[in-house]
Amino acid sequence: MNIILLGPPGAGKGTQAKLLEQGRGMKQLSTGDMLRAAVAAGSEIGLKAKAIMDRGDLVSDEVILAVVGERMSQPDIKAGVVFDGFPRTPAQAEALDGMLAARGQKVDAVVEMKVEDEELVKRISGRFTCAACGKGYHDSFDKPKKDGICDVCGGSKFIRRADDNEKTVRDRLTVYNKQTAPLVNYYAKRGNLHSVDGMADIKVVTASIGRILDGI
Ligand code: AP5
Ligand code: MG
Ligand code: ZN
Repeated sequence: MNIILLGPPGAGKGTQAKLLEQGRGMKQLSTGDMLRAAVAAGSEIGLKAKAIMDRGDLVSDEVILAVVGERMSQPDIKAGVVFDGFPRTPAQAEALDGMLAARGQKVDAVVEMKVEDEELVKRISGRFTCAACGKGYHDSFDKPKKDGICDVCGGSKFIRRADDNEKTVRDRLTVYNKQTAPLVNYYAKRGNLHSVDGMADIKVVTASIGRILDGI
């Protein structure tokens, strides 16, 4: 099963994608995480992407599709993917349809995560993640059970993203509304769009997504 988590920055896409990996054995494909890994490694793609990401713009479709195409060719991802932060433009959505069709698959469900703007800014401003396993946390809403120790892997090193400040979040929101929000209609027309209240508690959101996946 292939699903897309569609929503603005801070909607909880990464949080829920990780939970779907743990709960359902699906694979998360996060273009944001892949780009950040490229930046950290200092690769050619990373060098191109860094300044664009830091100001909250979209990396070009060409670069994104090359990165996703490469990942999709790996065997561990054949059984089912949770797309997190991809697609973000109509061109990416069409390319994804093509990649999946080539292997006899399709997008089985698109889950739109709805969250109000001010809540998004609050969430992103307090966010940090485990450097070892990528589990996401928040200074106020989602702290590790034991201070300084990751709940999932026991790691003790945490990182904060360069684009997680109020100014860049607002720019990312503008970019989302202009370039990515049209995908809601794109998938609504195909009849596979579902919406969840992303303002609810993390566990409640997980349960809502679970009900959608169980129903298809
Ligand atoms: P990307 O990494 O995809 O960032 P994003 O879309 O801006 O989304 P975030 O990762 O900020 O939010 P999220 O929805 O994952 O929320 P999270 O679960 O962490 O992209 C970064 C950049 O890379 C882009 O700006 C662009 O430059 C580039 N890029 C990436 N993909 C691209 C593409 N396809 N095309 C072109 N460019 C691309 O949750 C946020 C916080 O809230 C956490 O602290 C979490 O603990 C907390 N939280 C989560 N759920 C809840 C809840 N229900 N209640 C309370 N708190 C919650
Ligand atoms: Mg994310
Ligand atoms: Zn961890």
